[in-house]
Amino acid sequence: MQHLVDTNDLSDIQLQQLLNDAAHFKAQRPPQLLKDKLLITLFFEPSTRTRSSFEVAAKRLGASVVHLDPSRSSTKKGESLEDTFANLCAMGPDGVIIRHENNSAPGLLANMQMTSVINAGAGNYAHPTQALLDLFTIHEHFKGDIQGKRIAIVGDIANSRVASSGIRLFKRIGLDVVLVAPQPFMPQESTLPQYEHLEDVIENVDIVMSLRAQLERHAKPIFDDYEEYAKHYCITKERLQERNILLLHPGPVMRNIDISDQMLDDPRCKVLEQVKNGVFLRMAVLKLLLLDS
Ligand code: NCD
Repeated sequence: MQHLVDTNDLSDIQLQQLLNDAAHFKAQRPPQLLKDKLLITLFFEPSTRTRSSFEVAAKRLGASVVHLDPSRSSTKKGESLEDTFANLCAMGPDGVIIRHENNSAPGLLANMQMTSVINAGAGNYAHPTQALLDLFTIHEHFKGDIQGKRIAIVGDIANSRVASSGIRLFKRIGLDVVLVAPQPFMPQESTLPQYEHLEDVIENVDIVMSLRAQLERHAKPIFDDYEEYAKHYCITKERLQERNILLLHPGPVMRNIDISDQMLDDPRCKVLEQVKNGVFLRMAVLKLLLLDS
């Protein structure tokens, strides 16, 4: 039984296979590979892209999907996460896709070894399928030539599970990662190069990944005025000029704080391509965990 708690659960061969499978699924509508499989989605935090992307991916491969809304479940009556999970597992799913505010929740459930557990975002620590779809988008854009390409991650890095999973995966596959953030958004323990302003590094950057301020994870407000923050960190045409830079964002984008309206319409911005690629990458993940492992 294989789980996807973070990308380090994947061997190098599996990582390559995911990129290949996702590319095949994108090129050609996939067959109903998961026709007899059942997945349950269990999302304890809000989601637009990730949940629907997993559901679309599963259904495109012929699997059935059942969604449990914890705000209307026995969690509200005090049932523990482990008990809720064990009860769902008693119904015989082939996998449970979970999003939770605790960093350790997916790992805890995976260790129960009852069904394949897929992490759809946990706390501020891991969001492996987002990291994988970002890698797929980068790999596709540079036609596989990604060794040594430099990615600047810009925004609330300290509180972002997208940044945290992404940094681990990008370093592993040989991208050069630099961090751009105001001091309160900079991870304290990181040894990666840190810059306060994008202007200090922009000349030598191939990819910019912009991130939303994770307001729901701030114990108290960090900035009172995000318009002031945007003056320094919003990705605008003035900042990027005509440079050949791939612009990414996991969504939801705070318009004109993270990325300007104008840049969202710029062909260098691949935010919707990331969403599109997310479906193909998640198809590849489901195939790997449910069929190949
Ligand atoms: C992110 C998340 O929930 O971690 N969204 C996503 O899954 N695409 C990022 C965010 O909420 O800022």
